[in-house]
Amino acid sequence: MISALTTLDAFLSVLARFDYSANRHGYLTSLLQEWALDPADLGVLRAPRSGRHAGTMLARCPQFELVAMSWAPGAATPVHDHGDAAAYLVVLRGELAVDDYIIVRRDAPGLARIAPTGSRALHRGQVDIRASSLDLRRLRAAKPAISLHLYAGPLQTLTVYDESDGSYRPGTPHAECGGQVPAALRPSDVPSAYGSVDAQA
Ligand SMILES: [Fe+2]
Repeated sequence: MISALTTLDAFLSVLARFDYSANRHGYLTSLLQEWALDPADLGVLRAPRSGRHAGTMLARCPQFELVAMSWAPGAATPVHDHGDAAAYLVVLRGELAVDDYIIVRRDAPGLARIAPTGSRALHRGQVDIRASSLDLRRLRAAKPAISLHLYAGPLQTLTVYDESDGSYRPGTPHAECGGQVPAALRPSDVPSAYGSVDAQA
């Protein structure tokens, strides 16, 4: 059990040592669930405006990024993918609805037909995984919620789909972080920043 190590720095030290070249979705799912981080472990999170969600960038390095998302009631993302990144989320507080979509066909540049394939509720401790750019989702919050999002590697691009008119366009990664995203990836950051925690773990 690793449940005693419930600080953000210790959790980041584990993420920093992980081999992201392997597709170990099951392991990362277990990791997010076993740590059962409390929002209080994450420091001060940006508060969302009414009906919106707000992200707080907790870590960013060449291997991964970690973002805490705070949801106000009524907040919803557009239907989107995550480019080449694998996206993992775990609900830390409250509940999120996840709507699954598939791309039925691409009609022309900028035009694609998408179709919903199902919806489910994610409760505290439950994980959602998106492993490819064909894996579309929309997230919704009916009540206040907090979720933790792990992207591997960092979220470089994403595409936003509009079900109503069949269009798609590039989205802005981490627009919900309000500009609080490091301008450049710094390879030396993670090992040096979290290395001291390893000795305690
Ligand atoms: Fe997403």
